[in-house]
Amino acid sequence: MSKDRIVVTRRPPGDAVQLLEEAAALWVWPHDRPIDRSTLLREIVTATGLYSMLTDDIDQPLIDVAPHLRVISQMAVGVDNINLEACRRRGITVGHTPDVLTETTADLAFGLLIAAARRFGEGTRDVHSGKWGDWDPNYLVGHDVHGSRLGIIGMGRIGQAIARRANGFSMPVLYTQRHRDPQLEPGGASVVTLQDLLAESDHVVVATPLSDETRHLIGWNELQRMKSTATLINIGRGPLVDPDALDTALRTGEIFAAALDVTEPEPIPATHPLVSCPNCFITPHLGSATTRTRIAMAELAARNLIAGLRGDPLEAPAIA
Ligand code: DGY
Repeated sequence: MSKDRIVVTRRPPGDAVQLLEEAAALWVWPHDRPIDRSTLLREIVTATGLYSMLTDDIDQPLIDVAPHLRVISQMAVGVDNINLEACRRRGITVGHTPDVLTETTADLAFGLLIAAARRFGEGTRDVHSGKWGDWDPNYLVGHDVHGSRLGIIGMGRIGQAIARRANGFSMPVLYTQRHRDPQLEPGGASVVTLQDLLAESDHVVVATPLSDETRHLIGWNELQRMKSTATLINIGRGPLVDPDALDTALRTGEIFAAALDVTEPEPIPATHPLVSCPNCFITPHLGSATTRTRIAMAELAARNLIAGLRGDPLEAPAIA
């Protein structure tokens, strides 16, 4: 029996727990809510492996109290909640779950794009409140998705999957990327500066990771550059977009509509101005939320953790 001890911060779906149980002693947070900080700080002290969620704050103080920790495996592709530099310094291996959620997340991005441009939020609010009146040629008129120009901020795996869907809607694609890679240009997408993308796109999707450089990447200046008919979709992380600037831009007609799967703060309180903003459509971080994808994420994260504890290469390392 291995001497490893794994802390699991939330019960994952599929066979992940069973896989982990076969490899090490397991401690699983038993509640259906994110683990509280004091419990995590206590349990991590003797752990060699951590199976984490994006809601866990894996910072320097946590790493400092975990002298035996060798592997962190997160059941998410985004790892902005993990202090990667601190992990690197301590030689802790970090895994994540790319690829398995790419297509599912791109589906949601496209759904949000259509919801924002075609005013699904306002429409369903009217249906629920009994305000749906007779058919009216001027009622809830939106903007076309097909044939319009799509701007993708961050042409990573998910950005590329969104671009493939855009091809089916006859949409020319502009994108930004820190390092240009012509192989990443599906269907003749063009790389442009952020400023040009904002000015020229009919719909802008934010699909880039959150980091110190990308925090509030979209603020008032960026929103002002966008067309007044444009929509903004955020499927990355909430803090990529300045929520106050977005609220003002939506209410003053600076842009036409927004759709967010991620928010700042998250979860967004029901009293937040963006929640009552009629042209803001919000889903509660559902990007990867299908049964098949969540099981694939959970099991990939388990395999990453087991491989790391054995000293084998991870299927999906988050740091090289
Ligand atoms: C991720 O994996 O980072 C998503 O935000 C959750 O699926």
